[in-house]
Amino acid sequence: MRRFFNLTIAMFVTAYIGIAGFGMAEQAKKAAPNKAEPKKAAVKNPVAPTPESIAAGQATYQKYCRFCHGADAKGDGPQAPKDTHPPNLIDDKFDHGSTDADIFASIKDGIGPKFDMKGLNSKLTPQEIWNVVNYIRSLGPQGAPR
Ligand code: HEC
Repeated sequence: MRRFFNLTIAMFVTAYIGIAGFGMAEQAKKAAPNKAEPKKAAVKNPVAPTPESIAAGQATYQKYCRFCHGADAKGDGPQAPKDTHPPNLIDDKFDHGSTDADIFASIKDGIGPKFDMKGLNSKLTPQEIWNVVNYIRSLGPQGAPR
């Protein structure tokens, strides 16, 4: 009888540790950043959308973005890698957040997990990225929350 009792306790303890471990794993999953979710934007756009900034952003866009997002930024540029479907950037639908800071983060860090769009952190300065954000803003998206 005593042996049986010990065994029962051992089983409970094992089950408890198992459940606790599972719970911690679940929590860790929740804490891990989900790239598909809009990035939380705390940063304000420090670059005023002057005509100069927008023109500079347009030049950068033509060089780095056009071949995927298209000359008019409506998506599906001619050289987009197969099946990547770059989104329209001038509607008010943004999967990765629509504030200036979200768009900045999309450009700077890129978008995964399949890395359909590489981050341009190493190619563009923050100032250049904000100029591109201002350029995209000048085309639209008019209805998107900022
Ligand atoms: C190699 C092709 C490619 C290039 C180059 C590229 N993009 Fe993208 N971009 C994509 C794809 C594909 C997505 C969609 C990714 C996803 O949703 O998983 C995307 C998504 C975005 C998004 C997020 C849109 C949303 O709905 O939230 C923004 C903003 C963006 N791109 C801007 C730019 C800008 C600005 C440049 C140039 C500096 C650029 N992209 C260069 C392919 C590209």
